[in-house]
Amino acid sequence: MAAVKTSLPRRQFDVVVVGAGGAGMRCSLQLAQAGLSVAVLSKVFPTRSHTVAAQGGVSASLGNMSEDHWYWHMYDTVKGSDWLGDQDAIEFMCREAPNAVYELEHYGMPFDRNADGTIYQRPFGGHTANFGEKPVQRACAAADRTGHAMLHTLYQRNVSARTQFFVEWMALDLLRNEAGDVLGVTALEMETGEIYVLEAKKTVLATGGAGRIWAASTNAFINTGDGLGMAARAGIALEDMEFWQFHPTGVAGAGVLITEGVRGEGGILLNKDGERFMERYAPTLKDLAPRDFVSRSMDQEIKEGRGCGDGSYVTLKLDHLGADTIMKRLPSIREIAIKFANVDPIKDPIPVVPTIHYQMGGIPTNIYGQVMNWVNGETRPVQGLYAIGECAATSVHGANRLGTNSLLDLIVFGRSAGNHIVDEHPEREHSHQVVPESAIEASLDRVNKIEARTSGENVYEVHDAMRNSMQNHCGVFRTLKLLNEGVTDMEEIARRVDEVYFKDKSKVWNTARVEALELSNMIEVARATTKSAANRLESRGAHALDDYPERDDENWLRHTLWFSEGSRLDYKPVQMKPLTVDSFPPKPRTF
Ligand code: FUM
Repeated sequence: MAAVKTSLPRRQFDVVVVGAGGAGMRCSLQLAQAGLSVAVLSKVFPTRSHTVAAQGGVSASLGNMSEDHWYWHMYDTVKGSDWLGDQDAIEFMCREAPNAVYELEHYGMPFDRNADGTIYQRPFGGHTANFGEKPVQRACAAADRTGHAMLHTLYQRNVSARTQFFVEWMALDLLRNEAGDVLGVTALEMETGEIYVLEAKKTVLATGGAGRIWAASTNAFINTGDGLGMAARAGIALEDMEFWQFHPTGVAGAGVLITEGVRGEGGILLNKDGERFMERYAPTLKDLAPRDFVSRSMDQEIKEGRGCGDGSYVTLKLDHLGADTIMKRLPSIREIAIKFANVDPIKDPIPVVPTIHYQMGGIPTNIYGQVMNWVNGETRPVQGLYAIGECAATSVHGANRLGTNSLLDLIVFGRSAGNHIVDEHPEREHSHQVVPESAIEASLDRVNKIEARTSGENVYEVHDAMRNSMQNHCGVFRTLKLLNEGVTDMEEIARRVDEVYFKDKSKVWNTARVEALELSNMIEVARATTKSAANRLESRGAHALDDYPERDDENWLRHTLWFSEGSRLDYKPVQMKPLTVDSFPPKPRTF
């Protein structure tokens, strides 16, 4: 990999999309169908992207099971976000949801069906009818493999539209010119170890989440925050990184996801006394309260000595649903429970604990996916750069995401970014801007520095230190003392990341090299998370701070912005004004 700087191979595309999950492939489909040349880079084969792990459903107010309305969906999402979500973006997403789902249906996505042929929908946490009155069935499901079905559908469509996939490629750095416009990326072909310059008129980051900064996570090993690292290094702020969602039901000890769809189908959480404890915490929605609520309630039960077994978990009971429903609606859950918890849920409850699942924050964008940086107190688009899906903060999820709104986010904003690029593309006729050599050299220098080291810190040990520190300092309940320790820890770990080395310098399929590069992205995410969290002096959504247990709208109804250089923070207002309808003003959040 000691590449001669000026001789790097180059390829040119209209658009480079980094990441082949639901967002990346929904966007690339829009672009390829419009005749643009599109390269999609993916560290894994596209249908192995983490979207494949999404189980329970994609939300849309189709009203197939009972009356529903996008405005109710919008209300639930605003309330779920603890009022930190931008209401213009939330309106856009909820209005677009039915069209986006029908589009997938027409692409051939194999949704479960009702007897009348319509798409089957199940209840999910926080989704209600008539502004919180009662749960509504809004999650459009393909058994408990909805993400799997979505990803395969999108992949097939992309192949047919002639999207060019770069499989097992890792993007390294954004390439910017003097004006700050993004002109493409440097990227590593993992098979050969060669670095390429991929020039693009538009670059789309769709790199998913970064849950691997924690020790216990439902996230795939590929979820290392690569897009966030690239953005942070390029001087772009990361927004609301203190807000991370714990999914209530990870298999105890293994972290593997047990879909909320289990509770949607009627499963219930029990403590060691066999009590359905959610009735006490959320009398109306019970087990189907939003995830931050349920996770905290579980943690509380465990802390107060009502955990099951050795006291460290609660159980999820679903045997009362009957074998037929379990086999038809939740077949993968049964398999996961048997393999990872050694219980057959047809007979026995599954031991579960809250587990890191999703980042609400990310790279700030508008509803077209354009990355919006914060410069001298104003938002400004970064020309040529888009971000979509979990790596983006659009911000529809605010301080807490509702289950099934993530798959929706992928397809709505993937499509929206694709449309925006197509509409903005008289550039089809324009040639590419010149990529400054200095930008390429800066990226190569960064990579070569790691490459050249023959001694220093072990990648796995530093990663472990990060994961354990995040787990200990940034949990379901937080304290200022713990968070501040986390900030100090993370700056120290960042220094260690700057010293990592790997012994094997071979080029072909060198996973040690990839892991070292991933670590340099994860540390940016971990620094952003701890610093942003330690400075938000209130409790809101997933950020539950013992020292400040109440939400404080007067001082904290604002988005956090974190800049890597100097770990600097700034803040910007929440967009309370929707596009066309009345705003939902903040009120106490009870369920
Ligand atoms: O529980 C689940 O099936 C996860 C869905 C989601 O995170 O949206």
